[in-house]
Amino acid sequence: MALKTLALLAVAHLAQAHFGIEYPPMRADTLSASHDHGTHYSQWIQPCAGVPGNLTDAPRTEWPLDGGSIKLDLHHKWTYIFINLGLGSDVSNFNYTLTNPFWNSTGNGTLCVKKLALPTNLPISDGSDASLQVVTIGENGNALYNCANIRFRANATPLSDEECVTEGVTYAPITAQASSGSDSSSTEGDGQGAGDNGPTRSSAGPAIGVNMGVLSSVAALTLIFAFGMSL
Ligand SMILES: *[C@@H]1O[C@H](CO)[C@@H](O)[C@H](O)[C@H]1NC(C)=O
Ligand SMILES: *[C@@H]1O[C@H](CO)[C@@H](O)[C@H](O)[C@H]1NC(C)=O
Ligand SMILES: *[C@@H]1O[C@H](CO)[C@@H](O)[C@H](O)[C@H]1NC(C)=O
Ligand SMILES: *[C@@H]1O[C@H](CO)[C@@H](O)[C@H](O)[C@H]1NC(C)=O
Repeated sequence: MALKTLALLAVAHLAQAHFGIEYPPMRADTLSASHDHGTHYSQWIQPCAGVPGNLTDAPRTEWPLDGGSIKLDLHHKWTYIFINLGLGSDVSNFNYTLTNPFWNSTGNGTLCVKKLALPTNLPISDGSDASLQVVTIGENGNALYNCANIRFRANATPLSDEECVTEGVTYAPITAQASSGSDSSSTEGDGQGAGDNGPTRSSAGPAIGVNMGVLSSVAALTLIFAFGMSL
């Protein structure tokens, strides 16, 4: 019953629900693909909208060994964002998170983070292949998926300040321990690496307080939905 409700909500939101990874470019164009009945790509399908990890003509973007840029096109009024990483050339297992805690993003437009920090002791070196997975989740737990292939390179650079501009969007990490009215948690050193040209994160205002019940139900709905979609 719950699954059916979620599925119906998902369909109801379909028209406006998709998002793009502008940089690094997506494995395949899952945005226009949704209008192309010749493909079975759909951002509702986990882990990567139905785009396989071994797609031969998928772009593979060089990323710095200590983390690179990501630029998203968001079309929602607001959404939760998770960015995960999987290692290898044909990835379907995204078992490292780059957004801990995950983000709450408000506004439609472009969200660019110049340098997304990596987990410590990540087993990568110059030439290691990997994929990024971006998951956006709405208030009902309906989730959208998109992936981009990367190759870690010692001489790769992040986007420039001119290229990495956030417009129309503010975002903040969900902080479980913050109470409302507390000051914004530091924009540095929290693992997100907003970088020098930090997107307008701080203008998102105070850190967002959330109780664990809310977090748990978001997570639970996500699991339910992911499970339902894979049946
Ligand atoms: C990609 O992987 C799938 C199975 O995961 C396999 O069936 C397919 O042949 C592979 N395609 C290429 C181009 O290697
Ligand atoms: C953002 O939302 C506004 C108002 O809802 C709309 O007019 C505009 O076209 C949207 N822009 C994008 C890029 O979706
Ligand atoms: C993630 O999965 C890869 C295999 O895909 C494995 O080698 C690695 O140890 C895993 N890392 C963690 C932290 O689970
Ligand atoms: C995320 O942001 C939206 C819009 O600003 C807000 O309505 C929602 O309550 C926020 N979620 C949490 C958990 O703070």
